[in-house]
Amino acid sequence: MNPQFYAGAYYDEISELPGGLILFLVESNRFLGSYKYRIGLDSYFPRLCGSCGEFHMNKTILVTGGAGFIGSNFVRCERLRSNRIINLDILTYAGNLLNLEQLKGDSDHIFIQGDIRDRELVRKLLKGYQPDAVVNLAAESHVDRSIDSPESFIQTNIIGTYHLMEEAREYWKSLSPERREHFRFLHVSTDEVYGSLGPQAPAFIENSPYAPNSPYSASKAASDHLVRAYFHTFGVPAIITNCSNNYGPRQFPEKLAPLIVLNAVEGKPLPIYGDGLNVRDWLHVDDHCDALHAVLEKGKPGQTYNIGGCCEKTNLETVNTLCALLDEMIPTSRHVPHCSLITFVEDRPGHDRRYAIDCSRIRSELGWRAKETFESGMRKTIQWYLDNPEWVHSIKTGAYRDWMSRQYGGAGKNEDSPQKAPGKA
Ligand code: NAD
Ligand code: DAU
Repeated sequence: MNPQFYAGAYYDEISELPGGLILFLVESNRFLGSYKYRIGLDSYFPRLCGSCGEFHMNKTILVTGGAGFIGSNFVRCERLRSNRIINLDILTYAGNLLNLEQLKGDSDHIFIQGDIRDRELVRKLLKGYQPDAVVNLAAESHVDRSIDSPESFIQTNIIGTYHLMEEAREYWKSLSPERREHFRFLHVSTDEVYGSLGPQAPAFIENSPYAPNSPYSASKAASDHLVRAYFHTFGVPAIITNCSNNYGPRQFPEKLAPLIVLNAVEGKPLPIYGDGLNVRDWLHVDDHCDALHAVLEKGKPGQTYNIGGCCEKTNLETVNTLCALLDEMIPTSRHVPHCSLITFVEDRPGHDRRYAIDCSRIRSELGWRAKETFESGMRKTIQWYLDNPEWVHSIKTGAYRDWMSRQYGGAGKNEDSPQKAPGKA
């Protein structure tokens, strides 16, 4: 397919004054469509999307938490789609400017270090950059940290979302009717809000009742309820997505997949909580970003979309897969077979047994589906960690070491013959 654009000026039919530019898209003498860009009214141009072959408008998007794991991957994906990004991130331990290295010098990526609770700053950004959408990825995201210390989860995930929503509501009200109709507030949430599934229970659907079990998931559930209420009460065109476990490049190594990879490479114990039979549904972060893009472009305001990989694995299966891939990818390591490093440790309090996402809605309504398989995605992810030792080094600050030793004690230390920490197995 090799479509071509033809551009010309058009006159407004009523005023008969110059109205703006009109673009015609033609492929092999076949007329595909035309788009009017109204000077002074439209803030975007149409664009043919390389990945899905459909037309999109170039947008300005305010992304919060864009220096974190999913945020930085999302920002990169959206820049590849030529959308302009205003990236607001406070840079907690999980936010890292190295995650945005590839965008250095890109004038359409504007990074601002700041807090989503800072109303004045958020107001200034909305007024100054006039975004077409806000995508809220700023959060405290690690379950174990929420058990250790819930305060920051309440502050960022609940209070922060409230402040951001309030400012988005005021901004949205100030827009012209056409821009108001197209504006979106996309709130990125988690499958953990639905609680824990029994072994045979059907996967979570969008109408599954909320039953959060950790301070983290409770704070995310609270923020989802707020966002939902702002749609129903005030009409803010908000959409919520609830996604399953992500893995991929730039994930902070407090989460299972990168923690296992980095520990295994260094010959450290691979801590598995409890009996290792808890089930998670894994999705590569790029697939999540594609889903968020589809929701932004085609999702219905007030709707919730579940996103998942249809890829349920017990933690033991996940860790064994990572170990087998590492054995193959670094066969000369003295830690082969890496699975010999597996160490069962004390369980996480209130540990949800199983998550599984039914993503039929986003598949049938928006045409999204995951591209990576678990094996291909995990292989690429391991390769990324092996290829980026500077990134890994930058993460391993004193704060990271403190967390590891507080959370894992002996099982997180670098020992040649790991001791089993107290646990069930
Ligand atoms: P992350 O912890 O890697 O990144 C969070 C980012 O938010 C960091 O860059 C941090 O600096 C920033 N941030 C924190 N508090 C802030 C504040 N007050 N103001 C501005 N920025 C702030 O998290 P992640 O894994 O990328 O998750 C992003 C979002 O996606 C979260 O809402 C999370 O609940 C959701 N989610 C994550 C997963 C997953 O598996 N990681 C799955 C489903 C949903
Ligand atoms: O389901 C989506 C959620 O996935 C997101 O909302 C969260 O932000 C994200 O952190 C993740 O939560 P989990 O608690 O499922 O992810 P985590 O990587 O912490 O743990 C995955 C599983 O592995 C879980 O059952 C706990 C277990 N685990 C985790 C760690 C860190 C271990 O067995 N050992 C570990 O050391």
